[in-house]
Amino acid sequence: MKKLIVATALALTLGMGAAQAEGDATAGAKVYKKCKVCHALEPGKNKVGPSLHGIFGRAAGAADGFRFSKAMKGSGITWDEETIAAYLKDPRGYIPKNKMAFPGLKKQADVDNIIAYLKQETM
Ligand code: HEC
Repeated sequence: MKKLIVATALALTLGMGAAQAEGDATAGAKVYKKCKVCHALEPGKNKVGPSLHGIFGRAAGAADGFRFSKAMKGSGITWDEETIAAYLKDPRGYIPKNKMAFPGLKKQADVDNIIAYLKQETM
């Protein structure tokens, strides 16, 4: 009986984790080191990639003064927690032919944490 209770509790905890993963912005700052070569957080500062300032709620491919790929501009995506997460997990799979040369984040925790960090730093 005890085993069953433990198993149920575990399933509930895991289930909840997946549904509403809360990232850790401090851990996300470390993940951001992988993005930093190409992305700035300051408004209007484009590097190899566009500035990520104000990314939440913005249409894909709309950052001022950056030459996006046709694939990105034509994707019809609006960036929010879910679309950014899907893109970062598999950039090429989510938006085929986009030109971000990044293989993707393999760990779900890294994705959750970077999103928490971006929310804190880009709004
Ligand atoms: C090697 C350089 C490079 C790295 C590393 C990189 N990016 Fe990018 N990123 C780009 C480029 C270039 C684009 C534009 C892609 C296009 O136009 O097809 C882009 C686009 C994006 C966009 C969409 C921007 C918009 O305004 O539509 C987001 C969000 C993004 N990157 C987040 C990240 C995050 C978060 C990381 C780190 C986990 C990261 N990128 C790592 C180069 C990079």
